[in-house]
Amino acid sequence: HSRWPGLIAAYRDRIAGAAEWEPVTLYEGGTPLVPAPHLSELTGCDVYLKVEGLNPTGSFKDRGMTVAITDAKYQGQQAVLCASTGNTSASAAAYATRAGMTCAVLIPQGKIAMGKLAQAVMLGAKIIQVDGNFDDCLELARKVTSDFPSIGLVNSVNPARIEGQKTASFEICDVLGRAPDVHALPVGNAGNITAYWRGYREYYADGITTQLPRMLGVQAAGAAPLVNGAPVSNPETIATAIRIGAPASWNGAMAAKEESGGAFRAATDDEILAAYRLVAAHEGVFVEPASAASVAGLLAAHKEGWLDSGLTVVCTVTGNGLKDPDTALLGMPQVQAIAVDPVAVAHELELA
Ligand code: F0G
Repeated sequence: HSRWPGLIAAYRDRIAGAAEWEPVTLYEGGTPLVPAPHLSELTGCDVYLKVEGLNPTGSFKDRGMTVAITDAKYQGQQAVLCASTGNTSASAAAYATRAGMTCAVLIPQGKIAMGKLAQAVMLGAKIIQVDGNFDDCLELARKVTSDFPSIGLVNSVNPARIEGQKTASFEICDVLGRAPDVHALPVGNAGNITAYWRGYREYYADGITTQLPRMLGVQAAGAAPLVNGAPVSNPETIATAIRIGAPASWNGAMAAKEESGGAFRAATDDEILAAYRLVAAHEGVFVEPASAASVAGLLAAHKEGWLDSGLTVVCTVTGNGLKDPDTALLGMPQVQAIAVDPVAVAHELELA
């Protein structure tokens, strides 16, 4: 049994342009599809979590980045740029480093989680904070890379990103031996829902699977342009990863929803935080807040009768909980240290 070779090597014949590539890889992909017994009990469905926080930089972005940076390498690019709410910047920084490229990231000032900033710093990215939100950063990144074509744009508007990210659908079908009935995932810039839908359609078109899932795209209520049907000019949510008002892959997301008979939903910050805590405390999987939006949306859809019992459901949890320690510790009371004394421990455990 050989080890997982990274997703370009694993799915080379299904990734555009990859035939001759020597991949820039950190052995991303091959993430576990973890059964979620508590969520299954709550919904009467067979629920699985696709745990994307176990990728090399702790999010699904690595799937897109191995392909985007490998492609940039073969195009002779020496520098890449992205806009990011955090995870894309960490991933771009890591893969650019592997490729020996320069990486610069445009991030919305004060609105990215601590762990992501720490990653971008350690992985050697040139970090540029912008007095604006993600949508401003992306517009800026597009202008800069259009004016200076020697710098590659590695946001999901780069088709190579979508090619990489679609492999998550392949992995799910490979493990289940079929496509799920419903696939829930958080939606921000909408690249990932576009990619998943492409992956599912490709397996279906080639007869590897015999059905397509309904796609359930979940946005934060304060940043829900696809739910509202119009861009949001001042998106706000505690789930900073998806604090996005003008998704670049709007059409891809709409197609996924409509072609699959799926839905978009909004989850409030309270619902997101409740799902965030539930997944950690009841499934043993620590995800970042944005990732829990998929679970929040699934639970709400169940309550409203959108989800028949007995279905096979996959929830993508997109990023690792370690990315955002501040939100994890939110409202935690100041802890008093105890004496080095077994009686004191017993007392804490209410055994004495
Ligand atoms: N979940 C997490 C943890 C994310 O970081 C993102 C996007 C999404 C979900 C939404 O995915 O944009 O493809 O719809 N993060 C981007 C970033 C915007 O800059 O890291 P999407």
